[in-house]
Amino acid sequence: PRPILLTRHGESQDNVRGRIGGDPALRARRCRPSKIYRTGDPLDMILELDLHICILMLPFHDFEHLTLPNRKHSLHIWTSTLQRTILTAGPIGGFPKIQWRALDEIDAGVCDGMTYEEIKKNMPEEYESRKKDKLRYRYPRGESYLDVIQRLEPVIIELERQRAPVVVVSHQAVLRALYAYFTDRPLKEIPHMEVPLHTIIEIELGVTGVQEKRYKLM
Ligand code: G3H
Repeated sequence: PRPILLTRHGESQDNVRGRIGGDPALRARRCRPSKIYRTGDPLDMILELDLHICILMLPFHDFEHLTLPNRKHSLHIWTSTLQRTILTAGPIGGFPKIQWRALDEIDAGVCDGMTYEEIKKNMPEEYESRKKDKLRYRYPRGESYLDVIQRLEPVIIELERQRAPVVVVSHQAVLRALYAYFTDRPLKEIPHMEVPLHTIIEIELGVTGVQEKRYKLM
């Protein structure tokens, strides 16, 4: 079996301000490798992959052009077309990277760039309808979770076809949908699942079922 590794982009300015959507850059922040710790079993390959992935999550300028020697396993890195995922994967050299529009965050339409507080205050009906049925609610001129799930179909087909481990650097709504698909969770849970920042979710699809591990990076 080969793992699929799901991770959100590094923290952005908008994450800090609680704004949704947009195409913000990453928050400039220093983080030392010594601050990173691992949880889970130290499988060889994971050790090595994890090292790369830790670096994936490291901000950013200090590690530009870094390529680790002696890697045994090839690794494919898929990002969305939004700069916070591309910048997160930026420091890693030597692996094929693909940008998928289908991995972009849920399109919040007219609410793009707003905070949840602002939506609640300025568009209370929208806020309430989303609260009532987050799975089906479609932002005006934007998307619903069901729309996101549908556009992920080609990504899932490709992911299942890959021979090498794939790191998917994407966004919360999208990763909720991918995670739910691979772990066989019901649709209605998707919009409410926990996919925290700075965490790698490793999913291994084996003959006996799905194994999952989570690595917290800070
Ligand atoms: O809009 C960005 C979020 O990642 C999606 O979160 O569906 O819980 O509002 P939400």
